[in-house]
Amino acid sequence: MRVKHHPILGEDRRKEDATIIVDGRKIKAIAGEPIAAALMAAGIRVFRKTPKKNQPRGVFCAIGRCTDCVMTVNGIPNVRTCVTPVEDGMVIETQNGLGKWREIR
Ligand code: FES
Repeated sequence: MRVKHHPILGEDRRKEDATIIVDGRKIKAIAGEPIAAALMAAGIRVFRKTPKKNQPRGVFCAIGRCTDCVMTVNGIPNVRTCVTPVEDGMVIETQNGLGKWREIR
């Protein structure tokens, strides 16, 4: 869901000009919008699972404070998607638990 008609800002004329890959699925997004906004516009609500009880989490504060929205982005875990802008070609994965770092050699 995106705000298309804002009483102060007016019409949203941005176009979906980026493609991101979320858990292997291609999703159209607006470059520069928060990743979380693009996911919610695509109907995705679960961004991670908790480490101990494997419970789903998504956007909670939406201002970068709570870490409920963290996902693995381009191989980097614990990225707060509510404050990270979309870039074309990003690869985003639902994070299980604390996430895993890829080994770099
Ligand atoms: S929703 Fe709280 S940090 Fe993103």
